[in-house]
Amino acid sequence: MRSFHFSSLLLAAASIVSATPSAEHHEVSKRGMTIAPKVFIIDMFEPEGAAWWGIDEFDVLAQNITLPGLSPLFPEVHCTADGDICQIITGESEINAASSISALVLSDKFDLTKTYFFVAGIAGVNPEVATTGSVTLYEFDIRDLPDNFTTGYIPFSTENPADYPGDIYGTEVFELNLALRDVAMAFASTAALNDTADAAAYRAKYASEAIYAAAAKPPSVVGCDVATSDVYYSGTLLSEAFENTTRIWTNGSGVYCSTAQEDNATLEAILRAAKANMTDYSRVIVMRTSSDFDRPPPGISEIQNLLYVDQGGFSPAIENIYLAGIKVVMGILEGWDSTFAAGIVPNNYVGDIFDTLGGTPDYGLPSYFISKRDVEARAPEGNLRMRRAQHSAERRAAIMNEV
Ligand SMILES: *[C@@H]1O[C@H](CO)[C@@H](O)[C@H](O)[C@H]1NC(C)=O
Ligand SMILES: *[C@@H]1O[C@H](CO)[C@@H](O)[C@H](O)[C@H]1NC(C)=O
Ligand SMILES: *[C@@H]1O[C@H](CO)[C@@H](O)[C@H](O)[C@H]1NC(C)=O
Ligand SMILES: *[C@@H]1O[C@H](CO)[C@@H](O)[C@H](O)[C@H]1NC(C)=O
Ligand SMILES: *[C@@H]1O[C@H](CO)[C@@H](O)[C@H](O)[C@H]1NC(C)=O
Ligand SMILES: *[C@@H]1O[C@H](CO)[C@@H](O)[C@H](O)[C@H]1NC(C)=O
Ligand SMILES: *[C@@H]1O[C@H](CO)[C@@H](O)[C@H](O)[C@H]1NC(C)=O
Repeated sequence: MRSFHFSSLLLAAASIVSATPSAEHHEVSKRGMTIAPKVFIIDMFEPEGAAWWGIDEFDVLAQNITLPGLSPLFPEVHCTADGDICQIITGESEINAASSISALVLSDKFDLTKTYFFVAGIAGVNPEVATTGSVTLYEFDIRDLPDNFTTGYIPFSTENPADYPGDIYGTEVFELNLALRDVAMAFASTAALNDTADAAAYRAKYASEAIYAAAAKPPSVVGCDVATSDVYYSGTLLSEAFENTTRIWTNGSGVYCSTAQEDNATLEAILRAAKANMTDYSRVIVMRTSSDFDRPPPGISEIQNLLYVDQGGFSPAIENIYLAGIKVVMGILEGWDSTFAAGIVPNNYVGDIFDTLGGTPDYGLPSYFISKRDVEARAPEGNLRMRRAQHSAERRAAIMNEV
């Protein structure tokens, strides 16, 4: 059983799309029953989902809608009787998140063109900070590397952990609507957050280290970036490696503050649907409440921090999903006619690293590979796929040579 610690509530604006709410141009014909939710709450596992059940404000279990393609553990989408608020539980990690959200956005039972997607879950937190960069990396066991490597994670098509990747998948960096994030933070800031004596006792252990000052403070609402990882990682060196990766891949604009296992998958599925005018990517909010620290305080070992101590953060993190989240959901519903139906126009780049929805990424152009468009424009080196095929062939040849 893993233990958790709570410190802050994090709202992410991962690093990227064109500011084009696409609802007016919606051309997809929807058959049968169509629910047009104003807010879709996205949770990853049961405790996050249950935070929204049995509450005074609304009954999201009033309608259960079975969709093909959802997790076997959570085969139904839940909605209020009027369909204004719905909830999906994706199942944990990227495969579950990508599959479940793809099934949802492609379903003809929902019109999601004006829907606000509200990712509301718990996360690990960086005690130094209290986007969403996700990472595509070579992974080595550090014991197999020479002494001058600081980590076993090395970006694709590079030889040094500190280099910008030479190859991208397109799902590395997503930027969300910052103006919407700020509105959501203002709503969340009105909540009286939960805290407990256990959580306070554990976080106090960070106070002696100046760089961990944020960790020692009581829960608050923080705007920063979330990293997605395939594995649940823990410990100072891996956390620092992902912190470095976030900085490098966003040309210094991303501030890694939390870690989770789903957000890039969820964002990619919503973004692909946005490309087909079935969702509006500028209406996505990611809120993660901190359940545990990604690295230990002074005097506690890495393994103690993850496996044996009680960080005390899990229960307040779950409580705070509701306490802060309800302010965001009700804020959107109450301001629907005046503000949210029309949408909050982003003033930053929103979208992915490939600028799939148009616009120009604003986190620097740290690489030649920053967008497919740039790559394609740069003949004669050829397009991304050709470069990748060449890299793969070279890699295979090198491996065969060693064998
Ligand atoms: C919907 O499902 C939940 C359990 O997931 C159940 O508690 C609730 O009663 C169901 N609602 C309806 C209307 O059947
Ligand atoms: C999300 O990021 C992980 C970690 O780098 C990557 O392996 C995965 O392909 C990404 N998943 C999606 C669906 O974009
Ligand atoms: C490690 O040292 C080798 C040999 O000097 C060098 O080729 C390589 O680039 C270094 N790698 C890193 C990550 O510093
Ligand atoms: C936090 O939640 C716990 C468990 O529900 C409760 O006992 C405690 O009083 C709450 N504390 C605050 C400060 O809200
Ligand atoms: C992170 O980057 C810093 C500064 O470049 C470097 O000193 C440190 O070794 C890196 N950490 C890891 C785990 O790679
Ligand atoms: C989406 O809307 C845009 C803007 O009206 C339009 O140019 C585009 O063709 C539409 N795409 C699809 C797949 O319907
Ligand atoms: C990184 O961002 C800075 C501005 O902050 C810009 O001058 C620089 O060109 C960017 N680097 C790359 C490689 O795009």
